[in-house]
Amino acid sequence: MSEKRPETMKRINTPELADSFIEEQVAAIKAQVKDEKVLLALSGGVDSSVVAALLIKAIGRQLVCVHVNHGLLRKGEPEQVIEVFGKQMNANLIYVDATDRFLDKLAGVSDPEKKRKIIGSEFIDVFAEEAKKQEGIRFLAQGTIYPDILESDGVKAHHNVGGLPEELNFELVEPVKFLYKDEVRVVGKRLGLPDNMVYRQPFPGPGLGVRCVGAITRDRLEAVRESDAILREEFAIAGLEGKVWQYFTVVPPFTSTGIKNGKRTDDWMVIIRAVNSIDATSATIEEVPYPVLNKIVNRIISEVKGVNRVAYDLSPKPIATIEFE
Ligand code: XMP
Repeated sequence: MSEKRPETMKRINTPELADSFIEEQVAAIKAQVKDEKVLLALSGGVDSSVVAALLIKAIGRQLVCVHVNHGLLRKGEPEQVIEVFGKQMNANLIYVDATDRFLDKLAGVSDPEKKRKIIGSEFIDVFAEEAKKQEGIRFLAQGTIYPDILESDGVKAHHNVGGLPEELNFELVEPVKFLYKDEVRVVGKRLGLPDNMVYRQPFPGPGLGVRCVGAITRDRLEAVRESDAILREEFAIAGLEGKVWQYFTVVPPFTSTGIKNGKRTDDWMVIIRAVNSIDATSATIEEVPYPVLNKIVNRIISEVKGVNRVAYDLSPKPIATIEFE
């Protein structure tokens, strides 16, 4: 890959440097795109959100954002994309709720790599279908960042749009391709994106799908989503948000016995995972204060339907991976 960050490029670590980067990119985008339309798969993650905000600043509603909800997003995520981009920034936003389509395809599939493949290829299909409905689109914007170029062949595999059908024949717009993650965040902040979008923890492309271990069922998926929301809420209250590298909940595909109102229950178990890492190749366990854990456990067992047990995973990486599958 010949693409290299220019040696003269300063590290963007101040609001002033971010502002001049934004100004340069807005001019460059206008010059590249002119009065044509640009398509963007907007996941709500940091990179695609910053690209969306930059393009909206440059070309407004010539940018067509497609937000595909695969049903495996965290609680409140699609709503936040609609609020921030659709309402506050008045973006040309197409929201596709493809939950049923994804969950139907995933029904009965327990192999983790098969699950990932289905989610990836279904994403491309849904996005390509939306792209074909749009007339006269020449450009595709992507949230490629510099580590993606350094680590792969420049195609951001987890964004899944690298595999779009050839006949769509787009020219790429990649305004943050020479930025490191911390620089993308500084730029996002200056573009007015909310902190919980700019500083969010890493979230895998297949989303909650890899945290609903084994074959995904709707009830277990809801237990993952609801328990994850409680965990994030309580971490924020305890001041752990932004301090712990990655934290989430997992629901394995087996039940265990409990007791409620004098009767035996046969319900799911939630596992909490909270790790610290630099680059995800290794990870250590966050020593969450016991009262915080206790509050989270009590909330999960009383608020999340179909759950009667909560465990805290103390396994570092290696030997355990961060995700369960
Ligand atoms: P593991 O589980 O391999 O995870 O220790 C390392 C980091 O990668 C994230 N992860 C993924 N990200 N697509 C992604 O975009 C995936 O399929 C995927 N699997 C794991 C994981 O959340 C962690 O940050």
